[in-house]
Amino acid sequence: MFGLLIFLLGFLGFRSYQNAGSSKLDSIAVYAAPDSNFTHVWTAPSDWRMMYLKPEEKELVVYGRELIAHTSEYLGPKGSIKAISNGMNCQNCHLNEGTQPWGNNYFAVQSTYPKFRARSGTKENQIKRVNDCFERSLNGKALDSTSREMLAILAYIKWLGSDVEKDKFPKGSGIFKLKGMKRACDPLKGAEVYTAKCQSCHQADGGGLLAENGKSYTYPPLWGTTSYNTGAGLYRISNFAGYVKYNMPQGTTYDKPQLTDEEAWDVAAYVNSMPRPSKDLSKDWPNIAKKPFDHPFGPYADPFTEEQHKYGPYKPIKAWVEGHK
Ligand code: HEC
Ligand code: HEC
Repeated sequence: MFGLLIFLLGFLGFRSYQNAGSSKLDSIAVYAAPDSNFTHVWTAPSDWRMMYLKPEEKELVVYGRELIAHTSEYLGPKGSIKAISNGMNCQNCHLNEGTQPWGNNYFAVQSTYPKFRARSGTKENQIKRVNDCFERSLNGKALDSTSREMLAILAYIKWLGSDVEKDKFPKGSGIFKLKGMKRACDPLKGAEVYTAKCQSCHQADGGGLLAENGKSYTYPPLWGTTSYNTGAGLYRISNFAGYVKYNMPQGTTYDKPQLTDEEAWDVAAYVNSMPRPSKDLSKDWPNIAKKPFDHPFGPYADPFTEEQHKYGPYKPIKAWVEGHK
């Protein structure tokens, strides 16, 4: 008995000696300066503060949030209010009711609109911007600007931006801008990433998986007739790559990404090389010199092809633009 005790004490002592040694070493080995893009990111106002809203305002904000989360229940092909969109929810892309850091949240909307946008060549208000997503990301029709649904979505966006100063972009708002690769994005490599890391949910045909009620998706589509169209923000490979890097596979958050940058760029190229609904874009980018580097449709002010604009390498394009300012 005594012998056992001595043995145990000795063993514990040895273990703690070992641990002390390795933890000292670990703390040296893993030390790296934190990337300031991922510290102190902005978050949504807490719900309890809604008690300071007038009851009718609160009702609108809550309804707006519901519409962002469950758009298709109300406005999808089998929607209870009006069938004007493709069955996706805003939240499929604006994660966690539009509040996820680097998850395409709405934190900078109230503070920066109305604003001039080169895509339309006009000063756009929030109604126009929301309807852009209805017409492009949800491949549908615009929501009536005076409808209760539009007012609710605007009220919710305003609520999320309550504490953001005018013209400010809080840290973690929107989509992260990934550093570009030296080479072009490769759809074939992307197909391998897709099979290994995306297909189990988004399906081999990219069409996603409908929920049992047949109204909305358990796993939303990434291409095909029910997906976003060629005018949507995600159709730009840089947006797709930045979104996916910090949010996919499902459950991924900005502080624990699971894809390398290369995997994110390549899978973006693969998904956006697959068929999807097209949109008449003849009125977009009235000033062609303002097209983003990865806008995949010409004509362009620079000498690069549609192919290179779509898949890269982007560096020569950016350098050309810099040189012609
Ligand atoms: C298929 C993905 C997708 C869906 C679904 C979607 N959006 Fe978007 N949305 C985007 C992307 C991508 C952007 C950013 C585009 C960019 O920065 O070029 C965006 C931008 C926005 C913005 C502007 C954000 C800003 O900071 O300027 C608003 C507002 C918006 N969406 C509202 C909505 C609403 C409301 C819905 C639902 C009716 C919706 N979106 C559905 C992908 C989507
Ligand atoms: C475990 C299941 C799962 C896996 C694996 C997964 N996703 Fe998703 N993905 C989802 C779900 C669920 C959503 C919608 C999120 C929501 O509504 O909260 C989504 C949304 C998306 C969206 C925006 C909505 C749309 O349909 O356009 C894109 C883009 C996307 N995923 C790409 C990918 C890519 C690329 C991969 C592989 C690297 C991947 N996902 C892996 C479940 C998954």
